[in-house]
Amino acid sequence: MAGHPVDRFNRYLKAARDAGAPLPEACALATADNRGRPSVRYVLLKKADESGFVFYTNTKSRKGRELTDNPHASLAFYWDATGRQVRIEGRVKAVTKEEADEYWRERPLASRLASAASNQSERMESRTMLMAVFKQMTRACKDGEIARPPEWTGYRISPTSIEFWTRNEPRLHNRELFELRSGEWRKSLLQP
Ligand SMILES: Cc1cc2nc3c(=O)[nH]c(=O)nc-3n(C[C@H](O)[C@H](O)[C@H](O)COP(=O)(O)O)c2cc1C
Repeated sequence: MAGHPVDRFNRYLKAARDAGAPLPEACALATADNRGRPSVRYVLLKKADESGFVFYTNTKSRKGRELTDNPHASLAFYWDATGRQVRIEGRVKAVTKEEADEYWRERPLASRLASAASNQSERMESRTMLMAVFKQMTRACKDGEIARPPEWTGYRISPTSIEFWTRNEPRLHNRELFELRSGEWRKSLLQP
């Protein structure tokens, strides 16, 4: 039996930040549609604790639609500054309305306006139209308050496996796999 691997993840994230890794919270998020066809894009991790790994997005985006059909996802981080990769897999659930509201209020106004103006992943006629919506919303928002669109929310990945890869020359890299089995984390080593 091993301890919860999220503690190690948070130590690695801090080490990457301390080592000057650019955007250490950026990670590739893989989802798959209801026929199992994968898609991947970067997102920013906002929180990692024993309840899971949280990122924010739009539920009507491509990833959001895929997560509705197939609530399983995978994240991959790589920090060249520390020579570490972390892979996370698990089941996904939207965060509560209260949690999403709390994070929405913390975001800079320009980010809130941009999120509210964009129907993420929808096709658009021109960028000019998007900018016009953004400007109109900015004008209308005199008091710095803008409601969180209900489709803008967070997802929490409750991990069932976390793998830590550490660069090691001469190419005999180190791989440690943590898997959740019957409520307990089990650790094993994998060949590189
Ligand atoms: C470094 C980086 C961080 C990003 N962070 C986010 C994010 O936290 N949430 C988000 O919705 N999109 C984020 N994006 C944009 C996504 O990569 C993607 O373009 C967008 O979410 C639409 O993806 P989809 O059409 O597959 O849903 C980020 C892009 C980059 C390059």
